[in-house]
Amino acid sequence: MTLRNDFLWGGATAANQCEGGYLEGNKGLSTVDVIPAGKDRVAVMRGKMKMLECDEEHYYPSHEAIDFYHHYKEDIALFAEMGFKCFRLSIAWTRIFPNGDDIIPNEEGLKFYDAVFDECLKYGIEPLVTITHFDVPMNLVNTIGSWRSRKMIDHYERLCETLFTRYKDKVKYWLTFNEINMILHLSFGSSGLVFEEGENEESIKYQAAHHQLVASAKATEIAHKIDPKFKIGCMLAGANTYPYTCAPEDVWKAMNRDREHYFFIDVQARGEYPNYAKKMFEKMNINLKIEDGDEELLKNNTVDFISFSYYGSRLTSADPEVNTKQTAANLFPTLRNPYLKVSEWGWQIDSLGLRITLNSLYDRYQKPLFIVENGLGAVDIPNENVNIEDDYRIEYLREHIKAMKDAVTEDGVELMGYTPWGCIDLVSSSTGEMKKRYGFIYVDKDDEGRGILKRSKKKSFYWYKKVIETNGEDLE
Ligand code: BG6
Repeated sequence: MTLRNDFLWGGATAANQCEGGYLEGNKGLSTVDVIPAGKDRVAVMRGKMKMLECDEEHYYPSHEAIDFYHHYKEDIALFAEMGFKCFRLSIAWTRIFPNGDDIIPNEEGLKFYDAVFDECLKYGIEPLVTITHFDVPMNLVNTIGSWRSRKMIDHYERLCETLFTRYKDKVKYWLTFNEINMILHLSFGSSGLVFEEGENEESIKYQAAHHQLVASAKATEIAHKIDPKFKIGCMLAGANTYPYTCAPEDVWKAMNRDREHYFFIDVQARGEYPNYAKKMFEKMNINLKIEDGDEELLKNNTVDFISFSYYGSRLTSADPEVNTKQTAANLFPTLRNPYLKVSEWGWQIDSLGLRITLNSLYDRYQKPLFIVENGLGAVDIPNENVNIEDDYRIEYLREHIKAMKDAVTEDGVELMGYTPWGCIDLVSSSTGEMKKRYGFIYVDKDDEGRGILKRSKKKSFYWYKKVIETNGEDLE
């Protein structure tokens, strides 16, 4: 048994990390446009440091990014050359509704995505569209406090309705929110939340999460009404948490860590708040404002498939002493696992962890899965012939693809596709750097914004082309 013939091989990007053109075509200012590179970035993204406009002292990498806005034809042609069946991209909300609360959409923004989708379809590439990927109109942050406010549901609904109607003949696969569980960790970066001194942050986050969960269910309802063939997915920053030892306390802690993440997907895939979450809210003194009709909406509009990102597994301990030794991992706290290697950014590399995650998600939800992000962020240094020989990236991807195939062929997991992250180099979300590269395609630009944005093929480009050509059979 091999991967299915219609397996969606491809790559993934997000508007905020690749488009640039941040005020072009009547686009409005978005959260990501005020998030600087450098030492203040993480504090701003976590909602701990208020930065609601740009200043002269900081550098804002989203403003130009890799200028996909002007290079999309060239970039999509390169994806086609690799044989992509699918291209994951996101919509910049502020290209469609520059202020978020506009009534009439911005035609220029709509035309841009028309052109991008047409270009994909020309090569037989299926677009997979994330409706919002770490992107909130700044006007909605400033006027209503973003997802704190229930009014966001209406603004989001208008966005979805506009997209579904306009692109119904071009796009079939949609994701409602990128890494919806990130709201707990990157509250401003993912959801536009900023906290004031003394506020109950957890309560605000979960109320905002409730608004997103309702908005996601509404989007699913509208989508299926507009076209029953639409496939709507949720998106989780995935990976299982391992216990540090076999002490039951560690196992218990790890299970609860996982529940923090599963919580979102439990609602989106099963249609109701799980009992463990209700109990947690009681203990934390969180009184969610759930309106009449919300529960019914959640129940009746579960997602068609579950997508997730996977970079490496997590590790936790019940012992507070041990738990102080954290390492970096996609901005989630995790302990260093002595059995695993780490990337140059300290992210742990665990290909078997991908098989474990696929099995856990499939056991739990019994819905088709889609790996929409995976990859190795690394420094690429051109050799004397100005080529990038990124064997380390090939090695990472090869092992993860093997694990993914095992999950499908050995364990029977239903998997729709695989779109590794940053198929073309783009701005790193956690650091704002260009030098943390994931791509099969190198983009000539550095962390200071220098470079001519020239695209060139890395060794992994040719390798991945062969992988796709053989439907994952030839990984050498
Ligand atoms: C995911 C995000 O969290 O990880 C992407 O959905 C992000 O936007 C990716 O780029 C990799 O993280 P980083 O920080 O290496 O760019």
